[in-house]
Amino acid sequence: MGIYEILFRFAASSGAYMGDPGTHPWAQGFPLTDRLPEGPDLPGSVAIDATDRMYPKADGQPALREAIAAYYQRFYGARIGADNVAVFAGGRPAIFAILAFLRDEVRVAIEETEYTPYYDLLQILGREPKLIASNAGNRFRPGLADHPRGDQTLLIKSNPCNPTGVVTQGEDLAALVRHYSQPGKAALIDEAYEFFADPEPVSALAHIEAIDDTDLFVVGAATKGLQVPGMRIGWVVAAQRNIELFRNYSSFGMGGVSRASQRYVTELLEPDRVALARRAVGKFYNEQRQRYGEGLERLGFELYSGTGGFYHWGRVPGGITADALNERLFQKQAGILPGRLCDMARRGEAGPMGCMARFSFGPLHADSLESDLALLKSCLD
Ligand SMILES: Cc1ncc(COP(=O)(O)O)c(C=O)c1O
Repeated sequence: MGIYEILFRFAASSGAYMGDPGTHPWAQGFPLTDRLPEGPDLPGSVAIDATDRMYPKADGQPALREAIAAYYQRFYGARIGADNVAVFAGGRPAIFAILAFLRDEVRVAIEETEYTPYYDLLQILGREPKLIASNAGNRFRPGLADHPRGDQTLLIKSNPCNPTGVVTQGEDLAALVRHYSQPGKAALIDEAYEFFADPEPVSALAHIEAIDDTDLFVVGAATKGLQVPGMRIGWVVAAQRNIELFRNYSSFGMGGVSRASQRYVTELLEPDRVALARRAVGKFYNEQRQRYGEGLERLGFELYSGTGGFYHWGRVPGGITADALNERLFQKQAGILPGRLCDMARRGEAGPMGCMARFSFGPLHADSLESDLALLKSCLD
């Protein structure tokens, strides 16, 4: 049940909902939803007319699909068109659709330390994944050499990785794309944190030569980088024949996605605006990563964080588990995500991730650093 387990325990223990004013939502994965320093404005309304009250198209409105394709063409030189894009109500529904239609014989490979909901999805879909070592032993930085060999394999990978923030980029990402572009291989590359990478945003689409010849699925979302989790817009970029599957699925299982939300996000993707957003998000969160990293290390956290995302990933000081730390934090309206929930083998509090924690600085303004660290310190002493 992942993060919701923590939210419910937090509510039971503190009487508040994490994210409410006065709480310290360090467990949660949402970004700031107001304007960032040097960033563009976020529109306060969206105009809709009678056409917008009609059913949406199953695979997304043409204007949004065009805007997404144009975005990847402009920033990554991607060789794709609007026919390679399907729109979903957020990143998770996109991920669910990809996994739900996987053929039975395809084996799933996933890093040992990954985004919490992947575990639940794989369980519910009856998939037993092959784990790729990602632990303190390799500093949570597995390489292609650690991946399973053999055909009929689909890799699931968040990049930048949630929870570790490790980014696969440059030649490593190109090699990963080449490997999983081969016949018999497939990959779901989840780029929810595309904008949050130092020194610059990163996408596998920069390296995909001919997407129609592959079973690569690049998942994006307006949730984090565009700062609108409430709009519920995500997308998949894939071969046209796979996009057609999603269109059929939408027509019998989803009914498309809110036209108002699609209009809103189409505006956010206006080329000059999105260029500004990428710069502002990168600058603000790269600085926050640096500042919180130094602060957490001063408190004794042993950090393994990479250079992406808006999380720090590390070992809780003092030999206590992340759950024990949370019990103390809940009393002060705060909480972190225990590492055991990112363990794709779910070995529990006594397992290798029991003392690991994910600290989110996604929802935090720049001025709360000192008070955040003081509060955390008071629960470690
Ligand atoms: C790795 C990763 N993928 C995808 C998502 C998609 O989120 P949503 O379904 O809210 O768009 C998230 C959000 O937490 C995430 O962390």
